[in-house]
Amino acid sequence: MSLLQVNNIKKIYTQRFSRQQYVALNNVNFKVEEGEFVAIMGPSGAGKTTLLNILASLDRVTSGEVLLDGRDMGSIKESELASFRRNNLGFVFQDFNLLDTFTLKDNIFLPLVLSQENYEEMSAKLQPIAKTLDITDILEKYPYEVSGGQKQRCAVARAIITKPKILLADEPTGALDSKSSNNLLNMFESINRSGQTIVMVTHSSYAASYANRVMFIKDGEVYSEIYKGDRTRKEFLDKIVSNLLVMSDGGVSIG
Ligand SMILES: Nc1ncnc2c1ncn2[C@@H]1O[C@H](COP(=O)(O)OP(=O)(O)OP(=O)(O)O)[C@@H](O)[C@H]1O
Ligand SMILES: [Mg+2]
Repeated sequence: MSLLQVNNIKKIYTQRFSRQQYVALNNVNFKVEEGEFVAIMGPSGAGKTTLLNILASLDRVTSGEVLLDGRDMGSIKESELASFRRNNLGFVFQDFNLLDTFTLKDNIFLPLVLSQENYEEMSAKLQPIAKTLDITDILEKYPYEVSGGQKQRCAVARAIITKPKILLADEPTGALDSKSSNNLLNMFESINRSGQTIVMVTHSSYAASYANRVMFIKDGEVYSEIYKGDRTRKEFLDKIVSNLLVMSDGGVSIG
């Protein structure tokens, strides 16, 4: 069984006043196996965030189903969604979403506090993560006292401290300079190597080249996908760039 199975999903947005309908996703089918690192690319408005929000159970499909570990996310009661997310999913957003009135450490502990873990357990979990992410020395600081890259690393720590089944990231490098982006991508690569499944939306071919598979979305549908396979990252990057070109030309994807 795949970790994540997306079966023929459709998402229609209905405008509040005009009642006009907009098909944001249509006929989307794919699977994600445990341990994969998948990047999702596509033009602005293609439906990437819509898809990620559905995978994050922050939004519901109009039809079709999303199964996580065989469980239909659409069947989860509204009252259980928050704990379902906390127990199964980790999120990293472009704008970090850290709380300014909490230290970085308390921000990272937040999902565990909500699950009522005690302080010793939380500290024990944080230690190795903080070391990997190189944030041990700044944990007592507040978000406004650290750099964008450091904030992003804390957001990653918060996302993975619960050991989520899937880490979902929407443009995680979008607000970072190139050095911080590289750090973040290397970190994703290393947590993926240690078994973390990752689904990442990105506009950057370079960021996508860190994944094992890139799925291209256009006009709400899966347009094509490519696997890294035995390619080097540079070769994969070239392949991603040429696929993007083909997609923007509306031509046919080449193998
Ligand atoms: N709440 C909403 N109500 C109506 N239409 C929406 C809503 N959210 C998104 N859309 C529309 O659905 C389409 C897909 O939006 P989405 O945010 O998923 O795109 P995206 O691929 O993430 O784009 P970007 O790369 O710019 O972030 C867009 O045309 C958008 O205008
Ligand atoms: Mg988006």
